[in-house]
Amino acid sequence: MGSVTKIPLVLVDRLQRPVRDLRISVTDRCNFRCTYCMPKEIFGRDYQFLSRDLLLTFEEITRLARIFVDRGVRKIRLTGGEPLLRKGITELIAMLAEIPGVEDLTLTTNGSLLARKAEALAAAGLDRVTVSLDSLDDEVFMAMNDVGFPVARVLEGIEAAAAAGLTPVKVNMVVKRGVNDGSIEDMAEHFRGSGHILRFIEYMDVGNTNGWRLDDVVPAKEIVERIDAVFPIEPVEANYVGEVAQRWRYKDGAGEIGVIASVTQAFCATCTRARLSAEGSLYTCLFATRGTDLRALLRSGASDEEIGETIDAVWASRADRYSEIRSSNTVGLPKVEMSYIGG
Ligand code: GTP
Ligand code: 5AD
Ligand code: SF4
Ligand code: SF4
Repeated sequence: MGSVTKIPLVLVDRLQRPVRDLRISVTDRCNFRCTYCMPKEIFGRDYQFLSRDLLLTFEEITRLARIFVDRGVRKIRLTGGEPLLRKGITELIAMLAEIPGVEDLTLTTNGSLLARKAEALAAAGLDRVTVSLDSLDDEVFMAMNDVGFPVARVLEGIEAAAAAGLTPVKVNMVVKRGVNDGSIEDMAEHFRGSGHILRFIEYMDVGNTNGWRLDDVVPAKEIVERIDAVFPIEPVEANYVGEVAQRWRYKDGAGEIGVIASVTQAFCATCTRARLSAEGSLYTCLFATRGTDLRALLRSGASDEEIGETIDAVWASRADRYSEIRSSNTVGLPKVEMSYIGG
């Protein structure tokens, strides 16, 4: 009696969600112009990308990552634009891999530079990668990446990543009706039994430039039914609370797939993700209209405690649940672009 039990303080937002994942965008540039993400008409020759001095340095990123880990972050994902375009990315990975408490260090890439870089990324301490690939049909894929990038080179990247031990390799396919939904069964067939985990993603209304329409979305339910008709599947329990993808496995043991139903079955209730833009702004939702500038704090000589207090205050006031309340009123709001915030 009389002893006081110290209850660890867990930082939670207004909907009681802790901060567990930090998605760090390391560049807003990309060598692809996917029509659903960086349409050429907007991201053309004259588009002003962030200049070098505006980007957080590796030291600044690592310092912020440590402060986030102190607040409960256990998973760090590097994104872009295309993260492998950032010069010296392996050095950043080595720095982040040293932070005690980071259980999962990963990266989402378009795969174009992966065949060349997979070994070095693994050696630096990256745990695994997720590769975007929207079709196995060159004509369809090239029309979607809009720079004529061939499927074969992404497949090489995926195999190089697996050979380097960056496993399990996940493959993200954004499904857009009338564009690549004809590739669903082919993709399933190709990746069955490969050890890689294919995930089908409902096309989302991120940013303001992709001209999103609800009709373009192929609901996850439909995707599951189509695959089940060819290769029977059954549901699998989530790996952890708040996992974005719903897991399914082939009944014949050929591995698993995932569906990410961000439009038809929103998962905001368990969303534990914080996002840091390449210029150091903190966003508490993929669909946020505004971020909090942490770079200014970093560069004005603030202490870790002061930066931590700012992060605490932002997270404590977080009430975002965009996908759950998406409506005709939210679709037109001025949101950040996917290539800026990294998905
Ligand atoms: P794993 O750790 O491998 O399960 O990765 P992940 O699914 O969290 O990350 P990934 O970068 O592969 O994202 C897959 C898809 O889900 C992308 O289209 C993301 O934009 C989308 N996504 C990830 N997080 C969120 C989120 O918080 N909200 C919404 N609406 N979509 C998200
Ligand atoms: N809807 C759904 N997913 C998208 N991605 C990019 N734009 C969209 C969109 N509008 C995917 C990329 C990548 C992941 C981070 O987000 O293909 O796999
Ligand atoms: Fe680049 Fe990925 Fe956007 Fe395509 S989806 S333009 S690969 S950042
Ligand atoms: Fe999280 Fe916002 Fe996505 Fe909902 S819409 S899951 S709150 S990032």
